[in-house]
Amino acid sequence: MFLGIDIGTSEVKVLLLSDAHELIGTAGVPLTVSRPHPGYSEQHPHDWWQATQQALAQLRLSQPAAYARVKGIGLSGQMHGAVLIDANDSVLRPAILWNDTRCALECEEMMAELPGLPELAGSLAMPGFTAPKLRWLARHEPAVFSRVAKVLLPKDYVRLMLTGDYVTDMSDASGTLWLDIEKRAWSDDLLALTQLTQKHMPRLVEGSEAGGQLKADVAQQLGLHPGIVVAGGAGDNAASAVGMGAMDSGQGFLSLGTSGVLFVVTPRFQPNAASATHAFCHALPHRWHQMSVMLSAASALQWVTGLLGASSEGVLTEKAGALSLSQRQAAPLFLPYLGGERTPHNDADVRGSFHGLSFDTDAANLAYSVMEGVTFGLRDGLMALNAAGSVVQRLSLVGGGARSTLWAQQLSSALNIEIVTHGSSAVGGALGAARLGWLATGASTSEVCLSPPVEAIFSPDPQEQHMLLARYERFKNLYPARS
Ligand code: XUL
Repeated sequence: MFLGIDIGTSEVKVLLLSDAHELIGTAGVPLTVSRPHPGYSEQHPHDWWQATQQALAQLRLSQPAAYARVKGIGLSGQMHGAVLIDANDSVLRPAILWNDTRCALECEEMMAELPGLPELAGSLAMPGFTAPKLRWLARHEPAVFSRVAKVLLPKDYVRLMLTGDYVTDMSDASGTLWLDIEKRAWSDDLLALTQLTQKHMPRLVEGSEAGGQLKADVAQQLGLHPGIVVAGGAGDNAASAVGMGAMDSGQGFLSLGTSGVLFVVTPRFQPNAASATHAFCHALPHRWHQMSVMLSAASALQWVTGLLGASSEGVLTEKAGALSLSQRQAAPLFLPYLGGERTPHNDADVRGSFHGLSFDTDAANLAYSVMEGVTFGLRDGLMALNAAGSVVQRLSLVGGGARSTLWAQQLSSALNIEIVTHGSSAVGGALGAARLGWLATGASTSEVCLSPPVEAIFSPDPQEQHMLLARYERFKNLYPARS
């Protein structure tokens, strides 16, 4: 039995996987994000650890026999967040998260000081990443900065609680801007941009390697065996890829979660700064990937659902799905940049908007246009990946948004690729994490990293495609005309 723990932004999810690839059980505990100022996004690491313990207690209660047989643990989590630890392992302040955009100025400074940064770090300096957050901290909270002994990523704080070790894996470390992505090693030049050295960094391991062992006291408290191996694990996107069996060049997925991600495995390190994509290490040795990331995806639908007072996203998407082609054609256009954007605009200050509202606009039209705006953002993301040298014909759809057939069909038509869904077998990061825990016990990737069964395949619909492409042309003109 293998245990996956995923530290998401909206919940901590845990999952039990058998060595016959059966999903034995899952449990989740919700998390909230605090936004103390516009552009800020924070969570307290203590909340992650508390939610992890609660989720594990639920799993233990529902599957006591299987839970007691766990042999390997894997961690996955939201990437980029800065967890600041002092010399006694105390958390110095709430973690600054991946979708926090406060450090745009620091990004500009880093790019000016080291113009070769993207070729080393795999991406432009962008406010979501960890390094510019530390530079912001040095400027705005120098007393806190001076006490920083270690900077950890979200899942690696939970690892510290489990094993007592400072460790991270290559895929998550890629999102810091401190890693030399090609060499898979910390870069002194990148660290120097933030007045830090390798002593502030956790030890690096591959995602499928052992990264420590469960401490005896924690094992007793959680009802697990002491000494169980805890794998390096992965950032949530690389973990999802492992869960989908995406290991070889050209394989990938599209995730409609809080963020919207297009992920493609590449044969080597392939940076392309101009396209505002990321070129990162995969969670498996000798593999890399490219990724385009939009900051608001399923979270935009969640936002409009709350705004309209609808009972759930599902109810609203059903209404949107009942609209005819001509009603869709007349719906407003939506710019999905509710909290700034990464790929393709790298613009922390841009915000969202509706265009073409009328007295006829109702809840269904608004829901439709929000989904379509996210789809168009992902089309931009695919173009950026194409420019960075990745060609894709088919992608698996994962994340909360994968439940909507309207969205799956629309994505296929707008991106002109096949979209494949996997139903409840696609449980994203937590499954990938459990698989990495399995690999760390010595199993092979050919045994572990299988693709989950296909539930449905969506192909481009010519009529819908025609309508969408005409609307996309109008969408494209809105960003340049925004202010
Ligand atoms: C990836 C990114 C997001 C977070 C969300 O670069 O910022 O996908 O990992 O969890």
